[in-house]
Amino acid sequence: MRDFVLIYVNGQRYELRGAQVFQPLSTFLRSGLQLTGTKVVCAEGDCGSCTVFLGRPKSGTLQYRTVCACIQYLYQLDACHIVTVEGLCADGKLNPIQESMVRCQGSQCGYCTPGFIVSMQALFETDTVMTEQRLRRGLVGNLCRCTGYEPIFRAGMEVETKNLHRLDEMYNAAGPLAELARCADEPVRLAADGKNFFKPTSLADAAKFKSEHADCMVISGGTDLGVQMNKGLREPKTIMSATALNLTDLQVSADQIIAGAGVSIADLESAAAAVLPEYARFLAWFGSPPIKNAGTLGGNIANASPIGDSMPALFVLNAQIELVGLNGPRLININDFYIGYKKTAAAPDELISRITLPLPKHGELFKLYKVSKRKDLDISTFSAAIWMKLDGPTISVVRIAYGGVGPKIMRMPQTEAHLIGGKFSQEIFDSAAQAAVAEITPISDVRGSAEYRQLLAANILRKFYSEVAAPSNGDHKVPAGKNGNGWPRRGRQMD
Ligand SMILES: Cc1cc2nc3c(=O)[nH]c(=O)nc-3n(C[C@H](O)[C@H](O)[C@H](O)COP(=O)(O)OP(=O)(O)OC[C@H]3O[C@@H](n4cnc5c(N)ncnc54)[C@H](O)[C@@H]3O)c2cc1C
Ligand code: FES
Ligand code: FES
Repeated sequence: MRDFVLIYVNGQRYELRGAQVFQPLSTFLRSGLQLTGTKVVCAEGDCGSCTVFLGRPKSGTLQYRTVCACIQYLYQLDACHIVTVEGLCADGKLNPIQESMVRCQGSQCGYCTPGFIVSMQALFETDTVMTEQRLRRGLVGNLCRCTGYEPIFRAGMEVETKNLHRLDEMYNAAGPLAELARCADEPVRLAADGKNFFKPTSLADAAKFKSEHADCMVISGGTDLGVQMNKGLREPKTIMSATALNLTDLQVSADQIIAGAGVSIADLESAAAAVLPEYARFLAWFGSPPIKNAGTLGGNIANASPIGDSMPALFVLNAQIELVGLNGPRLININDFYIGYKKTAAAPDELISRITLPLPKHGELFKLYKVSKRKDLDISTFSAAIWMKLDGPTISVVRIAYGGVGPKIMRMPQTEAHLIGGKFSQEIFDSAAQAAVAEITPISDVRGSAEYRQLLAANILRKFYSEVAAPSNGDHKVPAGKNGNGWPRRGRQMD
């Protein structure tokens, strides 16, 4: 069992021991290594100024993804290669993206600049042909407070790619890769400053550790927990990382998706694109690329937020959650998984290991909706999933799940009963809208008033009807109603 965390930063090897392991990556980079190109502004994953590359060994290579360094803790990063903005320029010379930023005057105060550069590099890693659409989607999550978006955008479009190198060309992976791949499968155990950390490599060891430590906090991508820790809402003493539990398997077939709990939201979105495009379209509005690269499906489900975005779809498609504890695995339908506000039916020794998502069959209707104060990088005020089967003009079966209208994601049995057996018509959806309002118990909070959520719960059914009755390719904006109440946002934590 190793008693240190091993990471590489810009090709340099570091063995980390003691209290420093419990620091955020951004603190280590800036204060420990003086790599101050990585900035920290929001410290909650929301602005992108701390964006860095995280390379993990996968299939004989290092797979690099962007993450927010402010909400990644060093203990999560055992056996990783971090590349910062400083690591993108060889021999101290600016790389073509950095040159383009200078040429196009894409930097004013400069706080956002490194994050934009790292995110642009991520786009060029997969394709050197840049389009406006790719650039816009790839830069979601990078904010510029000086509002210099136009020159930044121009810089991204005008990069001279002939001299641009991918990370695997800049860093000869051969040396670090072998060591990182070996270390990825090694358990780590360390303690310092009254804190305990364990990285198990089997579910049996993880369940045992969890059962022996009542205060154990399991961490996967850390995109919920990192924010809570940074904001002082949580100070865990016992931490267990799920990164070495082999939970990243993703199997896609014609009738189901089976995803390990550690599958990232980004990988789930890509997999869904082929077999469940409605889910992929919906997940496109989940967080930002760095958040989706780190955040996992299992973390979203276990977090048990009534506004978690992955879940409404899982409810109406009757997904099965596999839990593993001391007695081995068991299955539970996600509809039975939540027992109250942020409470699940998982026993203290259990972890989520994987999720089986049955796919809708030909002819079945399936639609997802997310309403938030802004379209990109915002947490839902309200969300909905509707699955329906018609027998001619008659609604034969329907399943509806709403998020943001009660203490947990809610199935809507009375509204469903109201629709079943009825004729697919404007009238029945109008009356179902009233049934839905009677069935929910929304509260007013920073994201919207109770009345606004009631209006959404009603109008989403009318929207579903109008989209199915007269399909168009328009975007899924809920019909205008009384808007939220203009309260300020209260930060990023998912409540
Ligand atoms: C800027 C920002 C934007 C975001 N946008 C969205 C959004 O649009 N929609 C949305 O739904 N969420 C959003 N989130 C929240 C977060 O990214 C998701 O909930 C994510 O899926 C959490 O996954 P994770 O692996 O990071 O979880 P972690 O933070 O690692 O853990 C979350 C919870 O799950 C538990 N857990 C993790 N893995 C397991 C497991 N295998 N078994 C049992 N318990 C486990 C942890 O103990 C913890 O309680 C956002 C967060 C940030 C910071
Ligand atoms: S500092 Fe804003 S995302 Fe990390
Ligand atoms: S240049 Fe100042 S925040 Fe973007």
